[in-house]
Amino acid sequence: MAIHIDERAGLFHLQGKDVSYVMQVVDGYPVHLYWGKKLRADGNLQDMPGLPKHRNLDQMPQEYPQYGSGDFRSPAYQVELEDGSRITELVYQGYRIIPGKPRLEGLPATYAEADDEAETLEITLADAYSGLRVALLYTVFKDSNAIARSARLINSGSGRLKLLRALSMSVDMDIPDYEAVYLAGAWGREAHLQRRPIGPGGTRIESRRGMSGHQLNPFLALAEPGADEDRGEVYGFSFVYSGNFLAQAEVDSMRKVRVQVGINPFDFCWLLMPGESFQTPETVMVYSDNGLGGMSRTYHKLYRTRLCRGVYRDQVRPILVNNWEATYFQFTADKLVSIAKAGAELGIELFVLDDGWFGKRNDDTTSLGDWVVNRDKLPDGLEGLAERINRLGLKFGIWVEPEMVSPDSDLYRAHPDWCLHVEGRRRTLARTQLVLDMSRPDVREHIYGMLSAIFRSVPVAYVKWDMNRSLTEIGSAAAPPERQGEIAHRHMLGVYELMERLTGEFPHILFESCSSGGGRFDPGMLYYMPQTWTSDNTDAVERLKIQYGTSLVYPASAIGAHVSAVPNHQVGRVTPLKMRGDVAMSGNFGYELDLTKFTDEEKEEVKRQVALYKSIRPIVQQGELYRLLSPFEGNETAWMFVTEDRSEALLFYFKVLAEPHMPKKRLRLKGLDPQRDYAVEGFGTFGGDRLMHAGLAFQVPPGDHFSLVVRLRDAAGGKG
Ligand code: DGJ
Repeated sequence: MAIHIDERAGLFHLQGKDVSYVMQVVDGYPVHLYWGKKLRADGNLQDMPGLPKHRNLDQMPQEYPQYGSGDFRSPAYQVELEDGSRITELVYQGYRIIPGKPRLEGLPATYAEADDEAETLEITLADAYSGLRVALLYTVFKDSNAIARSARLINSGSGRLKLLRALSMSVDMDIPDYEAVYLAGAWGREAHLQRRPIGPGGTRIESRRGMSGHQLNPFLALAEPGADEDRGEVYGFSFVYSGNFLAQAEVDSMRKVRVQVGINPFDFCWLLMPGESFQTPETVMVYSDNGLGGMSRTYHKLYRTRLCRGVYRDQVRPILVNNWEATYFQFTADKLVSIAKAGAELGIELFVLDDGWFGKRNDDTTSLGDWVVNRDKLPDGLEGLAERINRLGLKFGIWVEPEMVSPDSDLYRAHPDWCLHVEGRRRTLARTQLVLDMSRPDVREHIYGMLSAIFRSVPVAYVKWDMNRSLTEIGSAAAPPERQGEIAHRHMLGVYELMERLTGEFPHILFESCSSGGGRFDPGMLYYMPQTWTSDNTDAVERLKIQYGTSLVYPASAIGAHVSAVPNHQVGRVTPLKMRGDVAMSGNFGYELDLTKFTDEEKEEVKRQVALYKSIRPIVQQGELYRLLSPFEGNETAWMFVTEDRSEALLFYFKVLAEPHMPKKRLRLKGLDPQRDYAVEGFGTFGGDRLMHAGLAFQVPPGDHFSLVVRLRDAAGGKG
């Protein structure tokens, strides 16, 4: 890793593990020359092919383009001056190199633990007329092919500036025929993989919901045509933010692609007073010449080890049982304890009490905001219940939805102005609830007070932090008219501040974020909470797609995956317990059903699953993922997890529907050491080269919903 600078030529060469990123100051503008496979530091970088024939702004590949002076493509930023004009011109001022990676105040971001892990280049640009300065931040990591980019906009003039647009990054590349790869979906159908040519007009991925959302994940990749899991160039862009976002690829008339990511400019503005600055969230850009698989593994490692934080970052996660699908809102303490007791007998480690324990909450129409235990349901309070659970040998976890308020709640009756709203307008309900105005310090303080009191008095080992609606009427009673356009982002910053405070003060608690399943499965959340509930859809067949898609960016340790009852509550499908277990064991494992209802035979199967997962979870949660067969392309799915030293691996294979008269299945494995022999459980001992090139053969038996988990170990017992 290094940042090489040729001051005379104005050349900046950022080198990561196997990646280079090159820029040059041309006519005062930072121009993009190259991003791809690592180039030599001592090579000649003059006259790079990226430089256009004509040096007009509309053709110049730029790093942070402006609007209004001849570049008609999408700008990276736009600022309105006091005189009403919206034209600025940023000119290169200088640079500095910062060892390691500076924190982005108030925002989630990747980090370096030591200064020699990463290096950051800050390039400063200024508009002489308005006093606007912009610092472009680029961090390269020594052991990664990721580059983190963000921008800080500073008002160093004397008039006030209004930011109309402040994206995190912009890059112009010569790849007009590449394909956009992204994740789209809905509630219960999250992270479905999409792939199509960017095409003229471009591709636009965004959210206007005040949250990242189920519909589109804040992620976009551009893949070379034909690039697959293992081969071909892929450029990934992942946005570390949980609110309104925009990720777009625009193809211009000169066949260049401009890729931009940042806070969605839609319904955004921000007043920047003299002396103030605005820090954008960061975009993590990954280059891979090993296809989508290479890109995913780069994201997984960086996000698992340098985005997630806290004591659980490097620890395997407990196997839990959650009562939601077992009881919904109707439970008694004894019922919960009976589920926990059954769990204890099967080896489960954590019991999670989901929604319905507080206020008068017997359905989803009431009590959010009243974080006081419902003694009708739990006469001995949370303390009493937790004690009974702990006595069984299980840890105790609890569900909360801190960002919300029910109109039917003591909190709302006392503070009707504490929700996001616009005076005189309707307050749109969703799931009979409103969103608390987290831009307000008094609201945050109140919620902090209620939750921290519980976390202090009850032995809570785990918190499921839910968030069950999009934002509407985004306005704040506490903000002046000219700042109402800031509220969506200020709300997000407030949510982050509350999360920082609570996760920081209770480091022993394992936090899992959730948003009606995967409605906020984004890197911003992972900074505070190292795992996310992936989807309310727990059907094993549906989960193959959801988990496969989610794995494009996010590591298995983050992917909450539970076995639930059949017929499945979301789609009514019946799948075998074995397959439900095998699918859930491909992520962060747990159960979400009434364990007391299992037959003895089923209990034996659960016991087996729990014991198996305990022995394989370090490989799943901390290993490297290789995707073999895609559920989006057919009837089969397969993936592997391989330890970093390649001494152990796990193969997961699923076949959804049986087919007649099938030949033996031949599956070529990935990620193994070709020089080593592997003991393949149930098959024999084979060379890594043979397993990867000739493959492993097995007969799929008749019957739908077949699944297989095979463990591989270095036959010599070697540890790399
Ligand atoms: C939505 C979550 O995704 C579910 O798992 C459950 O916690 C419910 N909310 C509870 O209301």
